[in-house]
Amino acid sequence: MKRSSLILLAIAVGAGLGIAAVRWTQSPPGGGTGIAVKLPDRFSQSATAGRDLFDANCKLCHGSNGAGTDQGPTLIHKVYEPNHHTDQAFYRAAQLGVRAHHWRFGNMPPVAGATRDDVGLIIRYVREIQRANGIY
Ligand code: HEC
Repeated sequence: MKRSSLILLAIAVGAGLGIAAVRWTQSPPGGGTGIAVKLPDRFSQSATAGRDLFDANCKLCHGSNGAGTDQGPTLIHKVYEPNHHTDQAFYRAAQLGVRAHHWRFGNMPPVAGATRDDVGLIIRYVREIQRANGIY
């Protein structure tokens, strides 16, 4: 191979790695568009059960660990601390849906699959992540 084409190859590989690095830093681990969320060292038993229910019913829009997606806001946010959005707000959201008022994601439809008990466990899960991120 000629010296000039070697240099071109090196530039091409370098650029490729550069693009890969940018993509890696822009998308959080696990993909998606959510924020960086700290997890507690360990979850309570209720929160562990809540995690599975969250993943089945809420993750599509609210993201892994509630980090958010382009379909819904992160729940690990000051707006959703217990004083601003009580547990009641979570029960209401799951049962009746939410009319868009804080963000521009659109409305949240009611979540038919989740019972009140399910939502109770989901709340435990979200609250424990919130605490680990200084939101309480
Ligand atoms: C189809 C997408 C979608 C799903 C599924 C979804 N949400 Fe939401 N949720 C949203 C959007 C969008 C908003 C923001 C509305 C706004 O602008 O305030 C929201 C807002 C909320 C709020 C704030 C309510 C308020 O009073 O402001 C809570 C709490 C919530 N969601 C909990 C949940 C829980 C718990 C689940 C699963 C049981 C869930 N969501 C499933 C899209 C979704």
